[in-house]
Amino acid sequence: MSKAQLSIRGEDLELPVIEGSEGEVGIDISRLRGGTGAVTLDAGYGNTGSCQSGITFIDGEKGILRYRGYAIEDLAEKASFEEVIHLLLWGELPTQGQLDDLNQKLGEYAVLDDGIKGFLKSLPKTAHPMSLLASAYTALETFYDSEGDSEEDVLRVLAGTATLSAYIYRHCKGLDFIDPRSDLDFAGNFLHMSFGKVGEEPNLNPAVQEAINKLLILHADHEQNCSASTVRMVGSAKASLYMSIAAGVGALSGPLHGGANQAVLEMLTAVQEDGGDLEKYVNMAKDKSSGFRLMGFGHRVYKNFDPRAKILKAACDEVLESLGLDDPLLDIAKKLEAVALEDEFFVKRRLYPNVDFYSGIIYRALSIPTNMFTVMFALGRVSGWIAQWKEMRNDPAFRIHRPRQIYIGETARAIQPISERG
Ligand code: CMC
Repeated sequence: MSKAQLSIRGEDLELPVIEGSEGEVGIDISRLRGGTGAVTLDAGYGNTGSCQSGITFIDGEKGILRYRGYAIEDLAEKASFEEVIHLLLWGELPTQGQLDDLNQKLGEYAVLDDGIKGFLKSLPKTAHPMSLLASAYTALETFYDSEGDSEEDVLRVLAGTATLSAYIYRHCKGLDFIDPRSDLDFAGNFLHMSFGKVGEEPNLNPAVQEAINKLLILHADHEQNCSASTVRMVGSAKASLYMSIAAGVGALSGPLHGGANQAVLEMLTAVQEDGGDLEKYVNMAKDKSSGFRLMGFGHRVYKNFDPRAKILKAACDEVLESLGLDDPLLDIAKKLEAVALEDEFFVKRRLYPNVDFYSGIIYRALSIPTNMFTVMFALGRVSGWIAQWKEMRNDPAFRIHRPRQIYIGETARAIQPISERG
């Protein structure tokens, strides 16, 4: 194994170099503070690896995304979301027997304690669905006598997310809830519970079900992003899975993260209402003092096309065609992308459309309200959060996450009596 040499305050230190299976290189600094008294400082963690992980691989330069070695393009085309859940959580694509078993368990655990309905109904219908979702996970834990870290908890959080998301949609619309069914797959169950009619048999459109399946797969995991790192951070304190996932929902809700999908649609609508003046919005995004960014553009890791955005752009055309729809916002999005990709500001900074740029147009075509878009992101991402959480808790190197800091505040001083402070 090669070593990195570090010289600091007259001390020389040799640091082990860790190599990942795709040739990624990391310097193991776990002995740095003990050996030299120094810590590292890396605002926004752009250079910090927080763990070793075997779940998701991204090559941001080449625009590659793989779950446990399988290309996202292949999974989106050939797998069901349930197969991807099995892959992420248990390491391999399932055999038919394993898949049947998982489907049966997902059906079983989608049925939640009735008390959760009353809890959701007690919350304001006008609240943002992501706030309702975060509240729902912590409430869910209160109905079960569990440590919050068992295989049952994993299945309940996973399957229950479809139920909670559908209940939240109907609560905001003032509609009665529809219970999950054991004869529908994950996407079908979510669609039936959300858009079905109380007391009626499911009436599912296979094209819609397929589109949701693809969206869930594309959103399932994305290695150590802000929400996954939050889930790991909270879970590292040995907090329950429910608490960890609720915290992840909080992180995802931000407009720089999952909340961007809602912001993109609002931006495209604003462009449309402004008479399609694309230049105005591109110029505004280039002007730092405007505080406006082109939503759905740019990524910390991808410095090339986000492969998920490519798949979703093509899926937009397919979904709209299969539903016989024509959405002027798709036209605006494509033109906006073309203008931005030609503009020196975006070219120089290597800013490309990300996963959130096109997903909203599909959600809109499926009649999902704009403020539910980030819940749709969470519906897929919960599987990745749980996989990350399980990996962290089973890691032999497990320790509570506790970053250090460089203190830049006042040095020691005495307290003045209040009458002497001025
Ligand atoms: N519009 C205009 N300028 C941008 C944008 C944008 N969308 N994104 C980055 N920049 C500029 C930024 O001003 C900076 O310029 P300079 O170097 O001159 O100061 C440069 O590009 C680098 O930006 P950064 O903020 O240092 O990059 P980051 O890695 O910290 O942030 C990001 C990544 C995704 C938060 C950011 O690109 C952004 O705010 N994008 C818009 C929000 C968005 O679409 N978020 C979804 C991310 S993907 C899915 C997910 O995570 O949920």
